[in-house]
Amino acid sequence: MDNLPVETSLEIREKYSHDWTEDLRFVPDAVAFPDTPETLQQVLRYAYTHDIPIIPAGGRTGLSGGMLPVKGGWVVSLEKLNRILLIDTQNLIAVVQAGVITQTLHESVEAVGLFYPPDPSSRGSCTIGGNIAHNAGGVRAIKYGTTREYVLGIEGFLPNGTPIRTGTHTLKNSTGYNLTQLFVGSEGTLVVIHTAILKLLPKPAHVQTLLLGFPEARSAIQAVVKILQSGILPAAIEFMERDAVRFGQAYLGEMLQPGIEEFGGLLLVEVDGNHWETLEKEAAQIEEIAWQSGALQSWYAQSSAEREKLWRLRRCLGIAVKSSGPYKEEDTVVPRTVLPDLLDKVKELGKKYNFRSVCYGHVGDGNLHVNILRDALPKEAWENDIPKAVEELFRFVIAHRGAISGEHGIGWVQRRYMPLQFSPVELALMKGLKAVFDPKGLLNPGKIFPD
Ligand code: LAC
Ligand code: ZN
Repeated sequence: MDNLPVETSLEIREKYSHDWTEDLRFVPDAVAFPDTPETLQQVLRYAYTHDIPIIPAGGRTGLSGGMLPVKGGWVVSLEKLNRILLIDTQNLIAVVQAGVITQTLHESVEAVGLFYPPDPSSRGSCTIGGNIAHNAGGVRAIKYGTTREYVLGIEGFLPNGTPIRTGTHTLKNSTGYNLTQLFVGSEGTLVVIHTAILKLLPKPAHVQTLLLGFPEARSAIQAVVKILQSGILPAAIEFMERDAVRFGQAYLGEMLQPGIEEFGGLLLVEVDGNHWETLEKEAAQIEEIAWQSGALQSWYAQSSAEREKLWRLRRCLGIAVKSSGPYKEEDTVVPRTVLPDLLDKVKELGKKYNFRSVCYGHVGDGNLHVNILRDALPKEAWENDIPKAVEELFRFVIAHRGAISGEHGIGWVQRRYMPLQFSPVELALMKGLKAVFDPKGLLNPGKIFPD
């Protein structure tokens, strides 16, 4: 172990004892910092021989506790494997190491006129490896899809250090089982990914961003289906209810627009493309639909600084709610037409179980983040009643053909709800796959599946 890049000081172990999930902490026995695939392999071989659990970690911005070392063992941070190995401007492919920060990739490809669309709110700190592990979504999924749609191949290791390589530098591939896509969203439980082959797009030349204020949250999300029925496909349709805006503005210490907190719901809509005139027409059409759906006000971003301000508010909501006190974050996703009833259901459950909620999210793709605030709820209610409320919420979501996580993953905090979504047979198939890749059960143990 002496020549492995492993740290055991309490200070470092504590730093790697948490991600952004609630206030959960599990201190690992050690933290490894491999800076090449070879050193990663050495770490994995040692750990495998000594039956040490391995928990791969990226930017530790996860919201389902995916990197928490709940069974002890070593956190293997991939942050030093942070090189962009290739940006192929002719085939529109990037090859990047797992520890590359997502925003760094955005900026690097945009500098040469290319585009990597997946755009989680945590893009300044999260990593491509973490994004792949959870199939991260973000604000542009409605038009461009989630991380999954951009992963063409991976290189990594089985828990015992055996190298594996999947995929190609091509967009098409009908060759054998699609292991690449099995690994996307596998939450670090099947393989340790160190490198990814990613698809890029040409960067759209222009964006037009507008904010729409509605009297009610419900009317705001009802407008979403109408916008899409008009034949326009925006790059983003984001929703914020009034309290989300309040939390965000308080966190930033910045007022977005005077009077903005008067609105029950806001939509932040962005269209993108190469022809400015088309975007202007599309934005005007969206504005018109919004008026017809009851909107009372609209604001266009008049400059990139104004656009940044709008997105700064939207992006900070998760951290703004988190910094306000204890809470639980649910990541529901439903068909878009169900969203208004989902929001009503959340509020109805709030009355029944006595909690306050703050909702916002990627309503263009049906993904509503439901934040349940603890406020003054007694321990008993927080620990016993809130899980019942969450279960009721999830039953509603599943009954309407949605899922309990749209983009944050199951990790540690949602695993108890997996039997709501999957039958025992389906869960057994997944566990069977896990056993094929990780027969000793050493890779990120305690995740995804209920005990
Ligand atoms: C967001 C994170 C919480 O949408 O997914 O801001
Ligand atoms: Zn989100």
